Amino acid sequence: MFGKKNKHLDYTSGPRDLIVAKEPKSPISEQYRTIRTNITYSSVDTPIKSVLFTSSLPSAGKSTTAANVAIAYAQAGKKTLLLDADLRRPTTHYTFEMNNQKGLSTAIVNEMPLENVIKETEIENLDIVTSGPVPPNPSELIASNKMEHFFKTVTMQYDMVIVDSPPILAVTDGQLLSKLVDGTILVTNVESNNKDSLTHAKDLLHKADSNLIGVVLNNKKQKSSKDSYYYYYGNEK
Ligand SMILES: Nc1ncnc2c1ncn2[C@@H]1O[C@H](COP(=O)(O)OP(=O)(O)OP(=O)(O)O)[C@@H](O)[C@H]1O
Ligand SMILES: [Mg+2]
Repeated sequence: MFGKKNKHLDYTSGPRDLIVAKEPKSPISEQYRTIRTNITYSSVDTPIKSVLFTSSLPSAGKSTTAANVAIAYAQAGKKTLLLDADLRRPTTHYTFEMNNQKGLSTAIVNEMPLENVIKETEIENLDIVTSGPVPPNPSELIASNKMEHFFKTVTMQYDMVIVDSPPILAVTDGQLLSKLVDGTILVTNVESNNKDSLTHAKDLLHKADSNLIGVVLNNKKQKSSKDSYYYYYGNEK
């Protein structure tokens, strides 16, 4: 939808709504900007320059939230990278209608230079690294020294790196990624997630020594308006 090569932007199609780009003045976009603001204020002494979005269970809205928050950062003039580190069910290339032959997996496995995998978007200040082809051993890739090196290199080049990931109760990838980033945010679909799964996810992040900076409650079906989204953002405690 927002790939550089698309001359005519289509804001209406695509599986995930990039509402912050499509309707920046809407109240929903304002909520994504609130998430951005809260990330900034969650750490006073050490600025947060990379954030992981994860969830306990699938389909919580991680990818949607990560993409919209990344756009919100780019709109604020921050040089932003959206990194699709969900090497199991990646979606960023669909959302932004990009080719996924090269991406994170090829950067790590083939030691491809960064400039070969970074894709520019139509949105000023926003670049993307898609997942690349899904590898047979995602956790191994995510845990590798090459991944750590790759991540360090990208964080040096961007003001903010937003990372999308698989659900944390399903596989270890999220825990591994949470060690690389400055802060982690749990996204939860209030309609399908339960308290136990959230507590379990929080415990796993705690064990990984990660910095859990907040929770996004994503309520997909608000009765008052079918298009309304409701986000609550608060400290874990
Ligand atoms: N706030 C919302 N309102 C309406 N639809 C939403 C909202 N958030 C997500 N969705 C829709 O729900 C579906 C799942 O969202 P998304 O892909 O962002 O979740 P995910 O947590 O990344 O899933 P997965 O675990 O498969 O990676 C998508 O079709 C998306 O468009
Ligand atoms: Mg996803």
